[in-house]
Formats: sequence, structure tokens, C-alpha cells
Amino acid sequence: MSIDLIKQKLGVLMDDSLGKTLLETGGIKHLGINEDDNIVVIVIAVGKKDADLEKKMRREIAKIVKIDLNYSGLKLEIEEFKKIDSIVKGNTKFVIIASGKGGVGKSTVTANIAYALSKKGKKVGIIDADIYGSSIPTLLDYNVKDAKIEVNDNKKIIPFMKNNIEFISTEFFAEIGAPILWRGAMVSSMINSLFYDVAWNKELDYMIIDMPPGTGDATLDLKNIIPKSDVIIVTTPHISASHVAIKAGYAAQELKHIVFGVIENMSYFLNKSSGEKEYIFGKGKGEELAKKLNVTLLAEIPINLPAKNTGLYEDNELIGQIYNNIADKIINK
Ligand SMILES: Nc1ncnc2c1ncn2[C@@H]1O[C@H](COP(=O)(O)OP(=O)(O)O)[C@@H](O)[C@H]1O
Ligand SMILES: [Mg+2]
Repeated sequence: MSIDLIKQKLGVLMDDSLGKTLLETGGIKHLGINEDDNIVVIVIAVGKKDADLEKKMRREIAKIVKIDLNYSGLKLEIEEFKKIDSIVKGNTKFVIIASGKGGVGKSTVTANIAYALSKKGKKVGIIDADIYGSSIPTLLDYNVKDAKIEVNDNKKIIPFMKNNIEFISTEFFAEIGAPILWRGAMVSSMINSLFYDVAWNKELDYMIIDMPPGTGDATLDLKNIIPKSDVIIVTTPHISASHVAIKAGYAAQELKHIVFGVIENMSYFLNKSSGEKEYIFGKGKGEELAKKLNVTLLAEIPINLPAKNTGLYEDNELIGQIYNNIADKIINK
């Protein structure tokens, strides 16, 4: 694969400020190819940046990318480790919420797991990495219209805050409500930014990540940033969702993430007059998916909108209790 080849060639370059190769320092922070334009996008971290080191490194990398490997262009960022390292280096636990298919409730699950963990006294952050359909601010009842992006002295973006949850969303960087067509390289640099360019609280206990649907680029990118993360797969009881969710699960396992469990959302409708569970989308696909992935089915969440909020369920609602239960499972893991 071309990415591997570039990585291999970059890996032997020296970070003179540390006297080690980029492979040894882990200095290749990001590597992506924009296939449309044939441009390579690279983010390198070095121990200490000065003009000489930067000049030398830029020359060496340009030679590899443009002359040896014949790409048309190179977009290269060189930064210092201390600037670039954020929560990624601390004790924060990462939980990726993935689904394969859109519309199954991935963002709702993300927001409510964060809310439940936060109510239990945990410090929680959310990265809304679903570039194609970000919705976290709305689900948290955060007023996007009045949101202003502010940066601190280190030029890092200050995360937004609601219900004691720190969060950042691509929605703030796009024209509100406008659909966005992201290209591969843009997706990767945006996802990198959400981790590195945000002044996250370093003491966060959990960072929950709402992934874009699918199993492609974005998932692989995250591997560069957080080598090992817990993954929760969300599906509905319908086969159209579960047969894509399984691919997301396998992809996560192949990447050596830990698939922590499956959540079946919109499992059934609770008929209030009869008290019966009506399985309107079918039954058993979540269980089946969990078995195939060899993990537990964490919950079956019925169909019901939140009583009071846009996206968050409270403790006095059945679904709120189910999310509290999922939060306990995450804490006790
Ligand atoms: N358990 C549920 N009961 C009823 N509606 C739900 C449930 N879970 C999600 N929804 C609704 O379904 C839609 C899609 O959910 P969302 O979380 O945005 O999905 P995704 O992020 O997977 O695209 C939203 O309108 C959301 O309010
Ligand atoms: Mg979503």
C-alpha cells in the first residue's frame, strides 16, 4: 500500500533534535493521500523545531514524496511534540462509537453515554468526528447559532461545554446546516485537528468519539492517533443495519481495537396500553451481531424520543436508566 511505503521512507529520517529516527520517536503524526489531487498530507512532530531542522526535514520529505514517489503535491506540517501532544498522551480512556450505517442512533448513543458518565461524576469529552452528519451540539441542546470559536494562548481551540461535557464538533467549522462534501485528505486533517488542536482538559476520564458511518478512511486515521481504543458498535434490529455493522466490528477488531460490546438501538416499541414489547423492526439481530463479534450485547434500547430534551434521556425515563446501566458497564470494565 502506498501509505505504508511513504511511512517506511519517512521512518528512517532523523529528528536531529532528539537524535532518533521518526520511527523511533513516533513523530509521524499523520499521513494521508488525497487521491483526487495526488497530494500527500503529512504531519510530523519533532522534539524541538528550529529553522535548520525544519528546512532539512522539508527538503528530505519533499524529495521522498515528489521525486522518489512522484506525487504532484505535498502538504506538510512540522510541529513540536509538546505542542502537538494533547489528551492522547494522558490517562483518558477512548470510546469509539461506530455503526457502519447512518441513522441508527450512533450520535444519540454517543451523547447519552457521555451524559450518563458525566452524571456519575466522570469528566467526559465528546469528539463529533462524523464529518458528514454532525449532530452532537443539537443533541446536547447546545445553541449552535451563538457559538463562537475561541482559542487560547497556544492557539488551541477551547472546547464547548454543556452539562459538564466538553465537546467539539465539525458543525462549528462548517456553514451551519450546509451539507459538506469532504475529501479524503480533508477528513483526515479535520479528525487530526479535533484531537490535537483543541485544548482538551487533560484530566478527562473518558473521550467518546462519534465516528462517521462506514469502515474506511476515518477509522484508519484514528488508529494513527489512538492505537488502542474501546469500540461500541451500534445497530438496529433490522438486517440492513446489522449486516453493515458487522463490517465495522470486524474492521475495528482487525485494527486491534477492543470491541467492547454491541448496542441494539430502536429495538422495540413499548406499547403502553398493553405493556407489550412490539418488535416492529424484527428481533435478534443485535444479539446475533454480538455473538459473531464474540462480545456482549450491552443493551437493547426501545424506540422513544426523550421526554424533555432534544436528544438526552433523563434518569426518570426508561431509556435514561438503560444508559446509566451502560455507563456502569463502561466504568466497571
Ligand atoms: N431509541 C430511539 N428512539 C427513537 N428515536 C431515536 C432513537 N435513537 C435515535 N433516534 C432518532 O433517530 C434519528 C437518528 O439518530 P442519530 O443518533 O442521529 O443517528 P446516527 O448518528 O447513527 O446517524 C434521530 O432523529 C434520533 O433522534
Ligand atoms: Mg450521527
